[in-house]
Amino acid sequence: MKVAFLGDIVGRPGRNFVMEKIHELRVQHSLDFIVVNGENAAGGAGINSRIATALRNSGVDGITLGDHLWDERGFEREIDSLDWLCRPANLPESNPGLNSLLLEKGDLKLGVVTVLGRQFMRVHPSCPFETARQYAESLKSRGAQAILVEIHAEATSEKIALGWYLDGIASLVVGTHTHVPTADNRVLPRGTAYLTDAGMCGPYESVLGRDIQPVLGRFLDGMPRRFTVATGDVAIRGCVVDIDENNGISRSIDLVHLKQSVSPDGP
Ligand SMILES: [Fe+2]
Ligand SMILES: [Fe+2]
Repeated sequence: MKVAFLGDIVGRPGRNFVMEKIHELRVQHSLDFIVVNGENAAGGAGINSRIATALRNSGVDGITLGDHLWDERGFEREIDSLDWLCRPANLPESNPGLNSLLLEKGDLKLGVVTVLGRQFMRVHPSCPFETARQYAESLKSRGAQAILVEIHAEATSEKIALGWYLDGIASLVVGTHTHVPTADNRVLPRGTAYLTDAGMCGPYESVLGRDIQPVLGRFLDGMPRRFTVATGDVAIRGCVVDIDENNGISRSIDLVHLKQSVSPDGP
């Protein structure tokens, strides 16, 4: 089973480039499933039903979310109609939406669960370790041959610790939220593919996807500014994992880095 996971989609530049390249990516890597984090897809913060559906129609199999999940007004009334999109599992039960996905394609079944970290985050969810383990086990009992666990978190230590905790249980543990891709992709001793952060699908000539000057200005003088989505150096970042569907063990994890080509005259 070949699975691609792509990091946080940021704004229109990110989502347009993902939708443009998704078919090419699937063919190039013979992908069975493509899962993306969409928490910043709408204007850089949140997502809505229209954007989520457009991503799905372009070829995305599953969408995950993070701490920005409720930033688009009214999404709490839309989320229950989207059965290929899940919210972080360790939020209070009163939050609407699915807390895991069981994606199916032919004979293949991929379980997907996202947990929020608790270090340096503005939300305070329940234990990501216990939640991820419980959902991994319940998805396996529902027939999932492979389990993708996403840890949406700030602290590298928390993400790495979850990787070790789930080694041999999950097929992939991959981090998101920082928007900065790491290069520590490896298969852990018991067969779990691991990557601390997938990075983002969006503009890299930026500060985490936002225009440089407003963010820099805020750091310099502390005055409030609108953080607009940047447009330059758009790239898709993520990973591709090759999983043995007979035992859920990963054979390899490779980084994905697709850059938007820019004409000599400008973007
Ligand atoms: Fe994000
Ligand atoms: Fe986030």
